[in-house]
Amino acid sequence: MIEKELAKYPISDKLKHQLLGRQSTNHEKFKENIGQPGYTAPDLTLVSDALLALALGKNVLLKGPTGAGKTRLAELLSFLFHQPMAAINCSVDLDAEALLGYKTLSYTKENQPEITFVPGPVEVAMRQGHFLYIDEINMAKAETLPILNGVLDYRRQVLNPFTGETVRAAQDFGVIAAINEGYIGTTPLNEALKNRFVVIEVPYLQGDALLQLLKEQSLLKDETLLKRFVTLSRDLLSKVKEGQIAEEGGSIRSLLDACDLASVIPPLRAIKRAIVDKLEDEREQTAVLDIAETLF
Ligand SMILES: Nc1ncnc2c1ncn2[C@@H]1O[C@H](COP(=O)(O)OP(=O)(O)OP(=O)(O)O)[C@@H](O)[C@H]1O
Ligand SMILES: [Mg+2]
Repeated sequence: MIEKELAKYPISDKLKHQLLGRQSTNHEKFKENIGQPGYTAPDLTLVSDALLALALGKNVLLKGPTGAGKTRLAELLSFLFHQPMAAINCSVDLDAEALLGYKTLSYTKENQPEITFVPGPVEVAMRQGHFLYIDEINMAKAETLPILNGVLDYRRQVLNPFTGETVRAAQDFGVIAAINEGYIGTTPLNEALKNRFVVIEVPYLQGDALLQLLKEQSLLKDETLLKRFVTLSRDLLSKVKEGQIAEEGGSIRSLLDACDLASVIPPLRAIKRAIVDKLEDEREQTAVLDIAETLF
């Protein structure tokens, strides 16, 4: 399966051999954290560049709107490197403990209390040489992420304040982050942080590639209807570009939901539930409905 997936992308024989060579690594305890293929690229260099950047030891920032396949792409990268991936989801309550670990009270076999340290995802990924996936990196509080500055630059190390130890990254450790720019609750990514990444833009899939994706992932099997959903997506995205509807109106995730629903209810109602009613603004809702009514 790996060779078939690798063959899709324009990468050098050297990198191909490097990736194939990694497939025999035994990850035992962390096997389940290795991703699966399932990302369809709008442009194959998007995947090959991400692979190359990671192979060169760069941190990769996947930048794109919600439901564009960023998490799927990160999973694919983990799959192709045959490397487990630990994930952290950023939110305002993400703190140093959630990243690095915390101390807890436990009992020995002799029932003696002792304080043990439970390492967090960053420490585990660094020591084991895994990938660290930092989702919605711009949702974190401004003071939290600078903890990672040293992890993300040439030092590749962090002083864990809870243990007093300096954690150094193992050879294969790599960071993949994802960002939705411009959404409510997000803040522009701190420049020093952004500066530590190579940016890969992940746009919404369109045209034949989108049709293929819908065929593979949706419960709706009626090809005529699926083609209309592809047209709907195109028209919605042009409204997004014109600024008439919010970017999430073009989300492939919502489109997939609409297709799934349309396998059991009339398509217009499916579109209302999966796309229209998520939009806040009444004018945006009307704009989407108008487009949908010309197609279904
Ligand atoms: N290019 C793509 N290839 C494969 N699946 C995709 C693609 N684009 C969207 N999807 C599908 O759409 C859904 C959303 O994808 P995913 O969760 O990866 O998006 P995301 O960019 O991580 O979104 P968010 O920013 O909201 O986390 C999934 O069900 C996924 O299968
Ligand atoms: Mg995601």
